[in-house]
Amino acid sequence: MGATVGCETNAEQALKTTAITDKPAFVEPFKPIEGPTVWYGEDLDVQDVAYEFTPREIEEILKAVASVEKRQLKVEEITREDFVLPTLGPKLDIIHQDLIFGRGIRLLRNAPLGLDVTLQQSIIAMWGLSTYFGKQVPLTQVGHLVGHVRSDEGVTKRVSNCTPVPLGYHADNSDIVLLACRTQAPSGGDSSCCSSHALHNEILKRRPDLHKVLSEPFYSDRREWWPEGSPPYYKSPFFHYHQNTLGVQEVQPNLEEVAEHLGAPPVKPGQVEAVKLVQEIAAEPRVRFDVRLRPGDILLNHNLTTFHSRTTWQDGASEADKRHMFRIWAASPLGWPLDPLYAERWQTVEVGKRGGLEVRSPFKLHVAITPKEYFQDFNDWFALYGATATTEPLKPAASRAQKQDLLRKFFPAMESGAKVEERSALIRAEA
Ligand SMILES: [Fe+2]
Repeated sequence: MGATVGCETNAEQALKTTAITDKPAFVEPFKPIEGPTVWYGEDLDVQDVAYEFTPREIEEILKAVASVEKRQLKVEEITREDFVLPTLGPKLDIIHQDLIFGRGIRLLRNAPLGLDVTLQQSIIAMWGLSTYFGKQVPLTQVGHLVGHVRSDEGVTKRVSNCTPVPLGYHADNSDIVLLACRTQAPSGGDSSCCSSHALHNEILKRRPDLHKVLSEPFYSDRREWWPEGSPPYYKSPFFHYHQNTLGVQEVQPNLEEVAEHLGAPPVKPGQVEAVKLVQEIAAEPRVRFDVRLRPGDILLNHNLTTFHSRTTWQDGASEADKRHMFRIWAASPLGWPLDPLYAERWQTVEVGKRGGLEVRSPFKLHVAITPKEYFQDFNDWFALYGATATTEPLKPAASRAQKQDLLRKFFPAMESGAKVEERSALIRAEA
């Protein structure tokens, strides 16, 4: 159960929500998985995954924020050693272990992230806490180490986190994703998660034929972010069996588009149906776990064992009513062994370094403190690497010639005669 604020005994108990081991779930390929990574949303209450910071712990975080502000450290320079949490730190270590080897979902509550602290202090607090979960890796080719999720008029609409589009169930490209809430919209913007190990078992039970399909490689869209010289798609199975572990990587729904327009090998029988089934099962009330973040919440997901999604939202008029989240991807030092194919999307499978995207010159790893800077970075990126930057919602209908230019730039091996049509998804408003 969750901690009672001010009650250390309950707080201590709340550190461990599931059976703690220091080993990944043992998985025999094509057999049902057992253990804490397999869970069903209908059995969970938010208190089962939450840890609420006590007033003393909040003070400790604020003190650490003040200390790094005083030293005028750049956010991206702040290490765990700089962000000293004498009593909370050891607890975060236990929560980290629980996240990686337990259910793969935790919720930290009462973090000082809301409008009662400055935007910079809020980001420092989020970053400082994230240092207890590993090394931050870039979320974009622009080099962002902290993502702003916010939908304001007048900023680029080319990236899904800058628009209120709903997102299906997926995993991100890192061991851990942290989603922190500074402000929440009056309606919508709800998060939902599920155990991808439970998905594995359900699909195995209901459709063993599609389970087999999901264990073989798919070709997925890299969306806007293509490492230099790489094709605009990458190869990955949904279920990665590796050294008696299972990592589950997202497979996007637009498989046919990737084959038809981005030059990937043809879609195989059953693949489209299998990907649809994944989304259907993940969204079942029995399977999914819904949580609406409130200011001061940080949702943590282990991407190898859980999926997450979000609903659309409607911002209110005041700053307090505009949904503003921060995201960080962390490479955990406790990372599981990974199928080498993960490197197609995670750059490397080396523990402590893997995940994130390849940053493109001339951009560098950095933290944009304000959403304005963050969105301007995107416009700069698109001005260099995409079609003309715009503050308008992106129309997927850049001209055929523009798209062919883009394809040649990012994928020189592609024939100039490659099929590139108006409805191509080279750059899309939704992700
Ligand atoms: Fe995500």
